[in-house]
Amino acid sequence: MVEMLFGVLLLVMLCGDLTAGQTCQANAPRRDCGYYGIQEPECVQTRGCCWTPTEGQPWCYYKTSLSVYHVDAVMPNKLGTKITLKVNGSTSSQFGDLISPLTMDITMESDERLHVKIYDSNKQRWEIPTDVSPIGSVPSSPPANPLYKITTANKGEPFYFAVTRASDGEVLFNTSHSDQPLQFADQYLTLSTTLPGTESIYGLGEHKVPLQLKRGQTFTLWDFDTPTPPNVNLYGSHPFYMDLRQSGKAHGVYLRNSNGMDVIYGDNFLTYRVIGGVLDFYFFLGPTPEGVVQQYQEVIGRPYLPPYWALGFHQCRYGYPNVEALSDVVTKYAANKIPLDTMWTDIEYMDGYRDFTLDPNNFPLSKMTEFVEGLHNRSLQYVVIVDPGIKVDRGYKAYDDGISKGVFVKDKNGNLFTGKVWPGVTTFPDFFNPMTADYWKDQTSTFYNTLLKFDGLWIDMNEISNFCNGECSGSSHPEEMRRSVDDGLKFDPNNPPYHINNQGSSIGLNTKTLDMDAMHHGGVLEYNSHNLYGLMESIATCSVLESVREGKRCFVISRSTFPGSGAHTGHWTGDNHASYDDLYYSIPEMLSFQMYGIPLVGSDICGFSGDTTEELCSRWMELGAFYPFSRNHNIKGTKPQEPYEWSSVAAISRKMLGLRYSILPYYYTLFYKASRPVTTIPSATVTRPLFFEFPTDRNTHSIDRQFMVGSGLLVSPVLEQGSTSVEAYFPAGKWYDVFTDQVVTTSGGTSLTLHTPIDHIQVHVRGGSIIPGKGTGLTTYDSRNTDSTLVVALDSTGKASGDLYIDDGETVSTSQWMFLLFNATSSGSSGQVISGIAGQAGDPLKIPPLGVVKVLGVGGSPSKASINGAAISGFQFNTTNNVLLLTGINADLTSSFKITWE
Ligand code: NOJ
Repeated sequence: MVEMLFGVLLLVMLCGDLTAGQTCQANAPRRDCGYYGIQEPECVQTRGCCWTPTEGQPWCYYKTSLSVYHVDAVMPNKLGTKITLKVNGSTSSQFGDLISPLTMDITMESDERLHVKIYDSNKQRWEIPTDVSPIGSVPSSPPANPLYKITTANKGEPFYFAVTRASDGEVLFNTSHSDQPLQFADQYLTLSTTLPGTESIYGLGEHKVPLQLKRGQTFTLWDFDTPTPPNVNLYGSHPFYMDLRQSGKAHGVYLRNSNGMDVIYGDNFLTYRVIGGVLDFYFFLGPTPEGVVQQYQEVIGRPYLPPYWALGFHQCRYGYPNVEALSDVVTKYAANKIPLDTMWTDIEYMDGYRDFTLDPNNFPLSKMTEFVEGLHNRSLQYVVIVDPGIKVDRGYKAYDDGISKGVFVKDKNGNLFTGKVWPGVTTFPDFFNPMTADYWKDQTSTFYNTLLKFDGLWIDMNEISNFCNGECSGSSHPEEMRRSVDDGLKFDPNNPPYHINNQGSSIGLNTKTLDMDAMHHGGVLEYNSHNLYGLMESIATCSVLESVREGKRCFVISRSTFPGSGAHTGHWTGDNHASYDDLYYSIPEMLSFQMYGIPLVGSDICGFSGDTTEELCSRWMELGAFYPFSRNHNIKGTKPQEPYEWSSVAAISRKMLGLRYSILPYYYTLFYKASRPVTTIPSATVTRPLFFEFPTDRNTHSIDRQFMVGSGLLVSPVLEQGSTSVEAYFPAGKWYDVFTDQVVTTSGGTSLTLHTPIDHIQVHVRGGSIIPGKGTGLTTYDSRNTDSTLVVALDSTGKASGDLYIDDGETVSTSQWMFLLFNATSSGSSGQVISGIAGQAGDPLKIPPLGVVKVLGVGGSPSKASINGAAISGFQFNTTNNVLLLTGINADLTSSFKITWE
């Protein structure tokens, strides 16, 4: 009893001390001050703590400190202001001592872009190197008409800053009213913004969640290999969000930081809790969603233009047992007349899962050479997987070379860091080491030159994935490395005071990856750089491919990504499940990656794990035919799911991939536009959410079961088992069914229930668009050799426009290319389509002519048509659906033309 009383007294005394100058912050992380069953009076009166009943969190919790940063000095400069912040009084805080002074640099980088960076004034902290993830150019003079205003506290006042939109004064980001003021300790940096509560937020991936993020959720950013449960942190990290207001105006916020973090999205706030680095914010003022992505890409880098064949169909499987199985698949695709551009092989081609080797029994060199030559002779491509884990195995070139060059990641003592992946004990190339690029190039080029003429590489397991939590217990260090590690760490990276919500709980940061004190070249800790590994491997791999394949564009698909990855690689969304849920999630995942500047993205079609079904695979082949990156892939042990496995799925695949191949010029043009400097072509995404095109239509803000391809096509798939109809939303405009050319609605802003049997997907073309195309083919090579086509979908005013980019489809520095614009106008029964050359280089390309033009929505009833004054003989006008079909046009696309009808 005495003991108990003494305990209570001590607690009261302690609480008294602890809570001076502190307040209850219900939204901040809570430290438990009670016990199971404690009641409010004891919590508040006896213990001096806070009481806020909230499910899943301690109801009784300690008070935490108020913002103690005050503005100490304000110094305007050419592009903005430098502000110094200081803590008045005690610097102790819940998660470590607050750093003081801090500097805040406000830089007006363009009319649309504002940069706000808060960092330690006295000591260089970890920041992402700009050659890993770029930062965009900074002007020499201030922008003339900034779309934003920034206000900050005055000297002596408690710190805050707020960003508003200049045109209407709307507050976009405001740290002043938050109950979670700036806290900047070594391993805990937090800042909150208030939100109106009516906004829509997108981004903050990689997660399997709906496109429009739900309030009340924590979005954790920490690269992790997991079979993609919803809500938890997945393979890549993208600390970027788009905020779309009810007005239809959007802005974006990018926190340039590679440390682990939680981003908490509450009812009317958004809070960052970051465990290292600096608070380096970029604000993009849009105001269109597409504009926000363009402005973001000006910082992180524009996406790269993939080779044309990358847009063809890809087949993969984990578990093709031998080269004969690969040949068999390719033969069956051809026999079933299903388009296929690229055959893939997973880890089984390797000798004991060693990178850069071939299994001599099942994938022997002679047969593999013959197989790959066979693919190339038929204009197909070959892609293989390469994992970062290099088997620890003396006598294995990739290991020996890495050891002699010293390019592997080290442990905290400077020894080789070893983990465990498919080959057993492995070590990992350290892409921070400048020697590693040479090492990677040497291994890849030797592999290419002596073993396998692959056309692209698939880089997997690069979170980094490890089968142990950190160094495997009992690991010996086979090679003693030269010590290069500074022991002067001031903190324990494996056990930070604040635990991010890793996998929805507080499991250690090293779970299924490296230890946090593993060291990269230059003393870079895994703790700081973990989220960058996939990006750095992508940069090295793309560059090696361009060089070994002599100037051809790289094709790299990476599992782990970070801002900037899209300039080097595409992405697939990892280990999904053969389920209708994952069929649906593939849409928000694809659309989110468009916002992250990685347009070449898609999910494993028909599902990776679990047995698919005929119906699910049918629906998935229909939807997957419209992913920018379209690949069927599944895990070993599950039933085969190549589309020819069912005659029904084969027929559906012929139909849908046939359509895909015939509109690849449209997709390729979208990729081209996304890859050009924003100042040249303002376009950023390939597929896009409906709200990108119709931001003022609030009905579109939450739609993620339909999507647009460019601005002209609307895709509305069936996503439910057993369903044969789709409830499709049509925003304002005139919409035509691409399969029947029928108008489905002329007013838009309406939902229609459309009959969609198992062999069908709803695809509509938007009035006002001109979609360039080709004939279809079993490969992109064949399709590219057919005549060009144009589908002109007139809007209700009789107008349409479009564009087309053409080049050789594969070289990095394409010296011959053309960018064409098309414009159509019509009135009554007469009208015209004219082409113009908006840009070109080199001699005119030798390409097949324009063969067919189809005009949808023609008024009146024309009776003849001509091109540049010469009659077009292939003339048909369908009076039932007002479609004009002109064939045999034979016009040279490389010079301007004018087609008229009357
Ligand atoms: C994990 C990848 O996500 C999956 O696609 C692949 O098949 C396996 N690793 C085996 O390499």
